[in-house]
Amino acid sequence: MPDCCINPSILSADFANLESELRRIQSADAVHVDVMDNHFVPNLTIGLPVVKRLQEVSGRPLDAHLMIAEVDQWAPSFADAGVDSVTFHLEASSAPVKLARELRARGSKAGMALRPATPVETCLDLLSEIDLLLIMTVEPGFGGQEFLDIMLPKIRRARAAAEDTGTELAIQVDGGISADTIGRAAEAGANVFVAGSAVYGADNPDQAISGLRAAAERARGGSSME
Ligand code: DX5
Ligand code: ZN
Repeated sequence: MPDCCINPSILSADFANLESELRRIQSADAVHVDVMDNHFVPNLTIGLPVVKRLQEVSGRPLDAHLMIAEVDQWAPSFADAGVDSVTFHLEASSAPVKLARELRARGSKAGMALRPATPVETCLDLLSEIDLLLIMTVEPGFGGQEFLDIMLPKIRRARAAAEDTGTELAIQVDGGISADTIGRAAEAGANVFVAGSAVYGADNPDQAISGLRAAAERARGGSSME
């Protein structure tokens, strides 16, 4: 299975001080940035101009999660901005294969996300076109929600399908990831973990990242020292 990554979500950070908030997560593998348009989800966050500045000051790869309706139109610009990984929702794209190829051609990893009610079977034939499959473990739109344990069988099916493709497909989970839940998601086959409130709600975000990483590695049967 690919390496374990902890990607803190800045949705739970102080939006008035994003540059200093990034300095509190030095041990993050990538910075998860939630882009919402109040159409695909009932919330509004930041758009391309802010993401471009974050890309300039972050010093670490950005992992953009686009919860926007017009994703076929907008996603390629995030790749052009240098975002390492650009994830779009399958439900929002009318041409997901074309879009994934455009993202890769622009030098980004292509990620595809599924809402909780979208079965993993809808994208099994597309897995060779993407680098990352995001299984939402809450309804997208807000931080601080409770992890949906009913997504665990879906994560297992996604991991089995990923192994069948023979590619290094990353399985990302997002929503309700904490020291209590990360082990279950890891055991089911996830290897990239987004955590917002569990990281930025802690007194020491970097320490929270270490705790999450250790719990995920334990559940994957490895050692946190590896
Ligand atoms: C929610 C976002 C998440 C959010 C997770 O739609 O996609 O990235 O920040 O927040 P927590 O970890 O608090 O559930
Ligand atoms: Zn997200």
